[in-house]
Amino acid sequence: MSRRLLVTSALPYANGQIHIGHLVEYIQTDIWVRFMRMQGHETYYVGADDTHGTPVMLRAEKEGLTPKQLIERVWHEHKRDFDNFGISFDNYYTTDSPETRQLSEKIYLALQAQGLIEARDIEQAFDPVKEMFLPDRFIKGECPKCGAKDQYGDSCEVCGSTYAPTDLKNPYSVVSGATPVRKTSTHYFFKLSDPRCESFLREWVAGLAQPEATNKMREWLGEAGDAKLADWDISRDAPYFGFEIPGAPGKYFYVWLDAPIGYYGSFKNLCDKKGLNFDEWVAPDSSTEQYHFIGKDILYFHTLFWPATLEFSGHRTPTNVFAHGFLTVDGLKMSKSRGTFITAQSYIDTGLNPEWLRYYFAAKLNGTMEDIDLNLDDFVARVNSDLVGKFVNIASRAAGFLLKRFNGKVDDAAMQHSLLRVLREAAPAVAQHYEARDYGKALRQVMELADTVNAYVDNVKPWDLAKDPAQAGALHEACSVCLEAFRLLTIYLKPVLPRTAAAIEQFLNIASLAWHDVDTALSSATPVAPYKHLMTRVEGKQIEKLLEANRDSLQATPAAAAAPANTAPAKAAAEAEGDTIGIDDFAKIDLRIAKIVDCRTVEGSDKLLQLTLDVGEAKPRNVFSGIKSAYRPEDLVGKLTVMVANLAPRKMKFGLSEGMVLAASAANEKAEPGIYILEPHSGAKPGMRVK
Ligand code: 2FM
Ligand code: ZN
Repeated sequence: MSRRLLVTSALPYANGQIHIGHLVEYIQTDIWVRFMRMQGHETYYVGADDTHGTPVMLRAEKEGLTPKQLIERVWHEHKRDFDNFGISFDNYYTTDSPETRQLSEKIYLALQAQGLIEARDIEQAFDPVKEMFLPDRFIKGECPKCGAKDQYGDSCEVCGSTYAPTDLKNPYSVVSGATPVRKTSTHYFFKLSDPRCESFLREWVAGLAQPEATNKMREWLGEAGDAKLADWDISRDAPYFGFEIPGAPGKYFYVWLDAPIGYYGSFKNLCDKKGLNFDEWVAPDSSTEQYHFIGKDILYFHTLFWPATLEFSGHRTPTNVFAHGFLTVDGLKMSKSRGTFITAQSYIDTGLNPEWLRYYFAAKLNGTMEDIDLNLDDFVARVNSDLVGKFVNIASRAAGFLLKRFNGKVDDAAMQHSLLRVLREAAPAVAQHYEARDYGKALRQVMELADTVNAYVDNVKPWDLAKDPAQAGALHEACSVCLEAFRLLTIYLKPVLPRTAAAIEQFLNIASLAWHDVDTALSSATPVAPYKHLMTRVEGKQIEKLLEANRDSLQATPAAAAAPANTAPAKAAAEAEGDTIGIDDFAKIDLRIAKIVDCRTVEGSDKLLQLTLDVGEAKPRNVFSGIKSAYRPEDLVGKLTVMVANLAPRKMKFGLSEGMVLAASAANEKAEPGIYILEPHSGAKPGMRVK
């Protein structure tokens, strides 16, 4: 039965670039959407830039632009990145649109009519110089527990204690450096604590697909009758970049109120362009389906605020919300100093194929909220082995013979071969994995089928058959089976590899493949076109180039130096020029416990030893250290030491050095020779931070 689906991915903020962390979600959603379209379902995938709020406003000011100029520029950058990665939005729009404004006003007024909006006076931090209220993360100060400077208003990065912004000592505004004052203002709240909201949400949660999401929701909701939901502050004071609240001059909708409404704003815009009936899609009794793909960090907004907003403003509620985990690179958080904070644009500029990343992420995704890791060595190995070695290889093994010997025409009788039956019978299971967003399972199954096809080729040996004219029939059958198998595998991989699939459709001379084409076959009536190479291998040096392009060395970004001269961070920077440094400067150095798992002399060097260090990462580090005069390699193996883990890697004559171990020596090394590497007390483990 044909279904009608509206699908979204989270709207990216309009003040930053798209990076590979974002791409996990867009690729995940896009694969699902393409799969649904291939099933013949009427599917619309909409997105938009999330344009409102204080960070966008301040970012524009810093760049000397109006917010509208900034969001216009960023929209083009985002659109370019999505197009490059094959993200097939039916509409990519902006939340700063007439549609989103009208819908936000309408929804707000409907909630008000339901008695679910309440005005209340609250006291907040205010920047008297900039004349604006300060969101918590725009206030810094000294930790009330340990005195560390430049800490945020909620927790201390140095001692780890948590507290309220009002507890900070010597607080300052990150915007102007001024000391914030307390000021009262009227705010508007959505009364989520209302019993109607609570009982609605308790019921709605039962339909969530992911058990982890249901559990989180139950935790937030608390026990029945013991409601834990707090009312939601949906207004902000001027100056604010956003929509003014009807009937409340100088008050604006908080960005998180209009952001999800932006999904509808984008869809409304699409409906008007295509002549679709928007109201029918969003009506409470709509027979259509609505899905939101998001990161696990914004579950709260999508499973509490958004469904309640829709329910009590007379709309349908989401059919489901699918949350994914975070991305790590080589087992660690993406990092600018390691070069693993990889922007979408740098990936393209480096000449890497977007389909490689789509395939790799898909192979790692399983429909849960678990984090996924981009292991760079594994990326190279898997793409080369699966896509080039297994999949594309099938076509290149058969195409030449079929073209040269049989005018590109398949043997129609071969389409009934038992191997092809095995491939066709896999369709429902593969489809089920896609639908359940368990792309990892889908691709494992497809690659097993590719293995079976390659084993068949190895077995029939077309290259031997080709030498014997008497075997022409067998050769024709083998090549035909091979290419039809390739066509079937292409159907299964098409949601993940849309561009490669399009090139294959051209080669096979067939129309755009849909899922039901599993039940058709190649035919001698349409010969295949000359074979062009379909995909190249990833080279290790391309990855090195990619990391290099994204690496920000410590010197290149002295964060404090960028602050205006009269602010507290600038004072910290001034101190740094003298004998002392601020705690922020120290915190930039990533010191780690490292285990020396191997140590060797370096041929041609009388100063260096080559150390292999385990710092708790997926891959050990290689470090060259000038300690040969003090240590024999075998005495160091198995010992623990301390290393600087975020030092920009250095190309040396002998190889790449990926960090530095710490060692002590006298000020006058000639008079008092001796080098002593640091060793932690027992109990320290590889990878622990030293702070
Ligand atoms: O967390 C974020 O990046 C938000 N810009 C996501 C908004 S999703 C939706 F609600 F608009
Ligand atoms: Zn502290």
